[in-house]
Amino acid sequence: MILLDGKKTSSDIKDEIAIKVAELKQQGEKTPHLAAIIVGNDGASRTYVNAKVKSCEKVGFNSTLVELPDTISEADLLAKVEELNNNDDIDGFIVQLPLPKHIDEHKVTLAVSPAKDVDGFHPESVGRMMLGLPGFLAATPAGIVELLDRYDIETSGKECVVIGRSHIVGSPMSVLMWRNSKIGNCTVTITHSRTKNLAEITKRADILIVALGKPEFVSADMVKEGAVVVDVGIHRVEDASKKSGFRLLGDVKFDEVSPKCSHITPVPGGVGPMTIASLMMNTLQAIDMK
Ligand code: GUN
Repeated sequence: MILLDGKKTSSDIKDEIAIKVAELKQQGEKTPHLAAIIVGNDGASRTYVNAKVKSCEKVGFNSTLVELPDTISEADLLAKVEELNNNDDIDGFIVQLPLPKHIDEHKVTLAVSPAKDVDGFHPESVGRMMLGLPGFLAATPAGIVELLDRYDIETSGKECVVIGRSHIVGSPMSVLMWRNSKIGNCTVTITHSRTKNLAEITKRADILIVALGKPEFVSADMVKEGAVVVDVGIHRVEDASKKSGFRLLGDVKFDEVSPKCSHITPVPGGVGPMTIASLMMNTLQAIDMK
């Protein structure tokens, strides 16, 4: 079994980006600038956004963190988005999800200028991805593609099963795996909460991508011998033996599934760091979108 080491791969990618940024600066070009809006105080979202800001520093980007209270109105948040759209120094920005219940996420996603949509969530970005046109790819699926590519995983003609149909991961992931490109050309099945006989379907998978958001959902009996398993889940569970008071679990029962796999991503240190690397790559790409 080979571990798909997202932490190491992400660090390599960030080193490569840092070199490109240093070259840009040397040529007198503008320093890439990523902004992130975070609404409220959700602990996990804070951790992710802080990691994004830290990565900006590592690669030499400028970063701006916009922190807003969870009482903010939808109109005020939309005004902030518009302000970032119009700020010429900011090349790309994200609005960390989830947002408080009183705010319509779709409205906010639609308000982000497609030229600055480094999360790849705007309908224009999604449409471009569907059509194979240049554009921003959603960070998590694009990070997974990059990870599979850097480990030389053969995908062409393989059976890929994606568990979960979210707009952020499952749906765009399925598209990237059927696209006609180096990582792609799979026969893709997407499963969801209404899927019948799930284990029968997942056992067909040469590549199993698990993104349903339930801790340790996938057990060994659901996985084919020799499969490549990508675990997108990340859950904090209480653990008094840890200094932090919690430990992290994925959507896959790692201990029992990993011996059956040819390759598997760990949690933490698998998909999470790749999402951030991919956001950095999108931000570098954003300079050319203006
Ligand atoms: N929440 C969970 N994943 C993501 C992501 O990739 N981008 C944003 N903006 N919010 C998220």
